[in-house]
Amino acid sequence: MKEKNNHIPFNQPYFTGKELEYIQQAHDQKHLSGDGPFSKKCHAWLEKSIGTQKALLTHSCTAALEMAAILIGIESGDEVIMPSYTFVSTANAFVLRGGVPVFIDIRPDTLNIDEKRIEAAITPKTKAIVVVHYGGVACEMDEILAIARKHNLFVIEDAAQGIDSQYKGRPLGSLGHLAALSFHETKNIISGEGGALLINDERFIERAHIIREKGTNRTKFLKGQVDKYTWVDIGSSYLPSDLIAAFLWAQLESFEQITSQRKSLWNKYHESFAPAEAKGQLKRPIIPADCHPNAHLYYVLLPTAKKRDSFLSALSQNNINAVFHYIPLHDSPAGKKYGRTAGSLEVTNDLSQRIARLPLWIGLEKDQPRVIEQVLLEAGKP
Ligand SMILES: Cc1ncc(COP(=O)(O)O)c(C=O)c1O
Repeated sequence: MKEKNNHIPFNQPYFTGKELEYIQQAHDQKHLSGDGPFSKKCHAWLEKSIGTQKALLTHSCTAALEMAAILIGIESGDEVIMPSYTFVSTANAFVLRGGVPVFIDIRPDTLNIDEKRIEAAITPKTKAIVVVHYGGVACEMDEILAIARKHNLFVIEDAAQGIDSQYKGRPLGSLGHLAALSFHETKNIISGEGGALLINDERFIERAHIIREKGTNRTKFLKGQVDKYTWVDIGSSYLPSDLIAAFLWAQLESFEQITSQRKSLWNKYHESFAPAEAKGQLKRPIIPADCHPNAHLYYVLLPTAKKRDSFLSALSQNNINAVFHYIPLHDSPAGKKYGRTAGSLEVTNDLSQRIARLPLWIGLEKDQPRVIEQVLLEAGKP
């Protein structure tokens, strides 16, 4: 067993060095509540770089998904098609409004929703398709958008992991009617907790402001468009403090450098594991030609569930924190209570038990050879 100080965590937050300076500025500007100067900078940046019509910071990706569920008018019994292999919030946001998640299988190459299985899951109650760009690798959006158009459905991108990724040259988050980003500490661009709702259909913009401001028309009031503000709709408090936005601004300013350093780590893993893949000891991620991901995560697939479990514990004994990922939602207590499946979930059940995510964070460069060496050693064991 190695010394404790040799421990390699799964994730470490990266600081650009500007965060405290901007927080100090926000403090000095005395605008601490939401939608202050730093929030406005972040909104403008997201709108320009993603090409979305309106970006609104939220407390989390979860909050942005909850806003999306309200905006598309989910009502009791409305069905929402989504992958089972995703985070709880993808489904929970719709269940809160009485919606029914309909879980379908993923593709074996990208672990994204299998677009070929969507049409078979559509019923007269289907209202939306929620896609999750796993690890920042885009879903097959052209086909999904065509299905949605044909059946008159909304498309929501859960782009929690997708900032600065592209699909056919288009940024993730700009493709669905609505999209949600996460700035949680584990993501590429962070603010501790944080997120954003991206609106690509202007019909939703006015109501989104209201929902985000506790169901009031306060935004119109602040713009001088009404002389007092009042309760006009349902809503909640979804806007973060400008202190959070100040932190986030420091990160957004450095997004190119952050993505490029993560890509170097990702590429190093990918090259190093090619021989092990050729020997059938593990499988590496597959990136379709149209996708340009942001190196959010690196995983390997082990040949069996048993091998994955022994692989993770061997790495842990060597002070390397590699981890599994989503427990399929269709198999969770709440997933069974509030959702249903459509078709076989074979790929989800199989891959969720064989996946191992490796440490990937800026600063890992020095220790990455040790992770690679250990992965190759453990994967090579019978
Ligand atoms: C696909 C997906 N959606 C939503 C979330 C929730 O993000 P947040 O913690 O910002 O609410 C996560 C978190 O990891 C996620 O992986």
